[in-house]
Amino acid sequence: MFEMGRDDIDRTPSGIEGLDEIIGGGFPRGSLIILAGNPGVGKTIFSASFLYRGIVDYGERGVYVSFAENREAFFSNMRAFGFNFEELEKVGKFRFLDLITAREEAAPAIMETILREVSEVGARRLVIDSFSALAQMFKETHEVRIILHTILSRVTRLLGCTTLLIVENPYGENRIGFGIEEFVADGIILLRRSRLADRLLRELEVFKMRGTPTYETQAVFTLKGGFKVFPPFKPKPIEKPSRFQPQPDTELFFSSGSPDLDKMLGGGYPRGSMVLIEIDEQITTLQYHLIAVPVAWNFIAHGRGVFVVPSAGVDQSLVLRRAWEGGFTKDEINSLLRIRVKDYPGIKSEPYLVAFRGENFSEDYMRYMEVERDLRERTGQPTLSVIGVDTLINIYGVKETISALRFCATRVREVGDLDIVLLKPGYPRVTKILSAIADIHLRITREHGSVLVYGIKPRTNLYVLEMDVSRGYAMPKLTPII
Ligand SMILES: Nc1ncnc2c1ncn2[C@@H]1O[C@H](COP(=O)(O)OP(=O)(O)OP(=O)(O)O)[C@@H](O)[C@H]1O
Ligand SMILES: [Mg+2]
Repeated sequence: MFEMGRDDIDRTPSGIEGLDEIIGGGFPRGSLIILAGNPGVGKTIFSASFLYRGIVDYGERGVYVSFAENREAFFSNMRAFGFNFEELEKVGKFRFLDLITAREEAAPAIMETILREVSEVGARRLVIDSFSALAQMFKETHEVRIILHTILSRVTRLLGCTTLLIVENPYGENRIGFGIEEFVADGIILLRRSRLADRLLRELEVFKMRGTPTYETQAVFTLKGGFKVFPPFKPKPIEKPSRFQPQPDTELFFSSGSPDLDKMLGGGYPRGSMVLIEIDEQITTLQYHLIAVPVAWNFIAHGRGVFVVPSAGVDQSLVLRRAWEGGFTKDEINSLLRIRVKDYPGIKSEPYLVAFRGENFSEDYMRYMEVERDLRERTGQPTLSVIGVDTLINIYGVKETISALRFCATRVREVGDLDIVLLKPGYPRVTKILSAIADIHLRITREHGSVLVYGIKPRTNLYVLEMDVSRGYAMPKLTPII
């Protein structure tokens, strides 16, 4: 990714959370940026954030030219996002120019009005909402061209004022090709509403940005709490490791170990349930562990047993490392954690390892029940099993695996335990059957480098998964796309 100041271009932060990371540090100062999209896609919220943060965080005054919303509507809509423009206007740092009622006759004077406002305020940022409405006031293409060149030469180049031109694309129209403005713009950003798994997805695409190679051009965004862009998922180092803080369970639910995930699930994982977590092939181990590990930490932190059948690609040492990362002691691990390993001659014996021969399904199944019973009896509490389905399929085949998991689903309800079943792609039939058996079905997938999590059972919105290391261990941060 880029670092600020890597190139010679003087940039100004966009004021949009997450955007600067994918456009090389910010908008080139004094550039002309087109922001295009269908109605209701978030263009006004984007522009308001650009101006508000510009004034409050970067000391750059701003002017908003509106052909659509009047002052009161704009002020009150934007208050919902914590933007108090009224106050900024009172102290002369912001100006709202209402041109809703401007008529065609006034067209020639409009540019003069805008220029006067910009220079009176001493603005370094200008938004025209929308350029489409402004252009409509002129009949001839050459007039629009003159307007554009006036903005370019006098506002952006001469005054160094970074300018956002909003372009309204009619519904169903996702391309920018409408006229001439895209040829003179320094940057073009398109906002889109789309769908993934029949759920709302918001996407931003950077078509061009002066001085920025556009190899990472698309990103997911949300309007939750403001306009927030999600750069591609980044693992974060844990600066100061500390012990996992247990999360309380409720009468009906085991906590997933993560307050965000509990909230998304409407409480947590039901007691006595089987949870299916379906993992797409582009998802890394670290990424799905953000969802699957905290529940195991939470069980151990409550003095309960955890039995793990590692998924392919995860060995005992990684499971053990995760336990250390939760800050647990050797004693806790020896008494509460059990990891399935393959039996082989000379295998090292550790209290937390359980060796299975993997030859006879019934024999292994009995063994598995014994381990579980032992954990339950010693702790007097429910136990958690985390099962990598691909491992079972590799050893016993599809048929035996499905029947084993059917047993598990029945038992887990009887004894009030929790089973987390991890399923990688490649077994569509197994997915269907397990989805029908499971009480909760989550799916983890990826789009434009962002990791997305959503509930199939119960049905939820799409959530963007980020890594939160603020507590001293890796936790999921989940933000809904709304
Ligand atoms: N408080 C809020 N929190 C999150 N999202 C909101 C909030 N209020 C409105 N929205 C969403 O913001 C969207 C409208 O955003 P915005 O006004 O920026 O769009 P726009 O592209 O400017 O639309 P238009 O073309 O009509 O001007 C709506 O789709 C609505 O779902
Ligand atoms: Mg708008």
